[in-house]
Amino acid sequence: MAIEYALPGRIALITGAAQGIGWETARLLHGRGCSVALADIDSEGAERAADALGDRALAIAADVTDAEAMSAAVDEVVDRFGGLEVVVANAGVAPPMRPMSVVDPEAFERTVEIDLLGVWRTVHPALPQVIERCGHVVVVASVYAFVNGVLATPYAVAKAGVEQLGRALRAELSIHGASAGVAYFGFIDTRMVRDSFEDPVTRRLEDVFPPALLRRLPPAAAGAAIVEGIERRAPRIVRPRWWRAWSALRGIVNPLLDARFDRDERMREAVREGERLGRAERTETTRSR
Ligand code: NAI
Repeated sequence: MAIEYALPGRIALITGAAQGIGWETARLLHGRGCSVALADIDSEGAERAADALGDRALAIAADVTDAEAMSAAVDEVVDRFGGLEVVVANAGVAPPMRPMSVVDPEAFERTVEIDLLGVWRTVHPALPQVIERCGHVVVVASVYAFVNGVLATPYAVAKAGVEQLGRALRAELSIHGASAGVAYFGFIDTRMVRDSFEDPVTRRLEDVFPPALLRRLPPAAAGAAIVEGIERRAPRIVRPRWWRAWSALRGIVNPLLDARFDRDERMREAVREGERLGRAERTETTRSR
């Protein structure tokens, strides 16, 4: 692998670093000699994670949807470590899978706010540093950036937006000698995915998709892929790797899959179950108000 961007001594900010992919990325970057700032809405989790790393690690309690807090987070990293050159905009959430007709509108909009605007509000205040120091930005999208987002619309809408943000950012940063890349993961065995598969609607995906497609990689593999992507200033980080073929062929594969979803009885049953559950949840919420 050609290393274009040597890691030792770099200063990195990783959001959503208290656990999962963000934590593994922070841990591995730290192990490669970077100073790392671990930002998370879970302040105790961020503290624990930073403590586990020891020197060259800073915990930051911040909600990525809060533009002022993210700007302050960048200032804190610069004050503590003297600059900032690598940003991994990773924090994200996945709400329960429900059809749009019954989804909780607040949950829908909060997901887009965290998963898309949170990436923007992480990256934007860091750009002067990244540009000055010819650094690299990774925005964490998902294969949902290009796979039909049935039952997961807010997540898929946000991830498609993140892909656009990352691609355009790369082109814009190139005049400064800085770079950006988009990370696309399939299923990674984190709390987000484990919690999602507790939901009966999500579990129905096991009837719709072949097991190979749902196979989960360990979070450390996703973190290692991000670290390798930073070292290569890679435009795309894709794991499991076979998703690269789907992404490359999306103009052909997607219309075929979209058409299948129109008539696949197992998918229709998943949507029906999502409607039933969503309606019951909304009635429950109205009653408790
Ligand atoms: P996770 O749930 O294990 O970790 C997410 C972290 O983000 C948590 O520490 C959480 O406290 C933090 N977070 C949530 N909302 C936040 C906010 N408003 N401000 C700051 N921090 C916040 O999830 P995981 O799986 O590690 O996900 C990380 C990223 O990878 C997400 O963007 C997710 O969409 C993406 N991804 C995950 C996949 C998977 O299969 N696990 C697949 C594709 C993408």
